[in-house]
Amino acid sequence: MTARYKLAPSILSADFARLGEEVARVEKYADLLHVDAMDGHFVPPITIGPVVVKALRRITSLPLECHLMVTDPLGQTEQFAEAGATSVIAHIEAVPDPTAVIERARSLGIGIGISVNPPTPLDAALPYLEQVDVLNIMTVNPGWAGQPFIREMLPKIQAARSEIERRGLDIGIAVDGGVDLDTGREALDAGATVLGAASAIFSRSDPAEAARALKELLTEREAAR
Ligand code: DX5
Ligand code: ZN
Repeated sequence: MTARYKLAPSILSADFARLGEEVARVEKYADLLHVDAMDGHFVPPITIGPVVVKALRRITSLPLECHLMVTDPLGQTEQFAEAGATSVIAHIEAVPDPTAVIERARSLGIGIGISVNPPTPLDAALPYLEQVDVLNIMTVNPGWAGQPFIREMLPKIQAARSEIERRGLDIGIAVDGGVDLDTGREALDAGATVLGAASAIFSRSDPAEAARALKELLTEREAAR
C-alpha cells in the first residue's frame, strides 16, 4: 500500500540564497517538494521558474511538484517537465477546461494536478477528477506565503473527499496555504491527504523540527488507515 498521507514542504519561504541547505534540512520528513511558480500575471509576484527546478533536481531525489500559478500552464508544462518536474498543478481559473494540460503532462510522462482558488466552487474541478493525480485546494488566495488559513474552505475539502470516495477514486487531496499543526489537523479531519506548508516550516527557527512535527501528524493518520 503506497502512502496516502504526504508532507509537501513549499520552498516559497525558504532562504533562496541557501536553497540546497534548506531542502537538506527537511528532506527526511518530506514526501515531495512543493515548488510555487508564479508568473506575475495569474498572480502579481514572479517567483520560481524551470531554472530553479533544474537546480533542485540535481540536489534532491524528492518528487518536485510544480504549482503553476501562471496564466499559460499548457505552454509552460513542457519546460517544467524538461527541467525535472515530477508533476505540475494547473489552476482551473487559468484553464477552465484543463484537458489539454492533462494530456500534455501525461504525454511528457509527468503527474498532473488541478487547483481551485478559494472563491472558485469545487464544481469547476469535478469533471476532471478521474484524469488527475491530485486536487489542490487553496486555503489562501494564491500569491504569497504566510497568510492565514481560510477555514471556510473546510466544507470544500469535505465535499471533495465525499465525491472522490463516491466515485471510488484514489487521488490526493492537497491543501495549500496557511497550514500548520492546528490547521493541518483540521484539514486532515475534513479529508485532506497532502499538507503543503511554507512558513510553518521554513519561517520557523528550526525547520527540521517543524517538518518532523507535521510529518508525525501524517504518520499517525497513515497508521490509522
Ligand atoms: C500560495 C502558495 C503556497 C504557499 C503556502 O500562493 O501556493 O504554496 O507557499 O505558504 P504558507 O504555507 O506560508 O501559507
Ligand atoms: Zn502552492
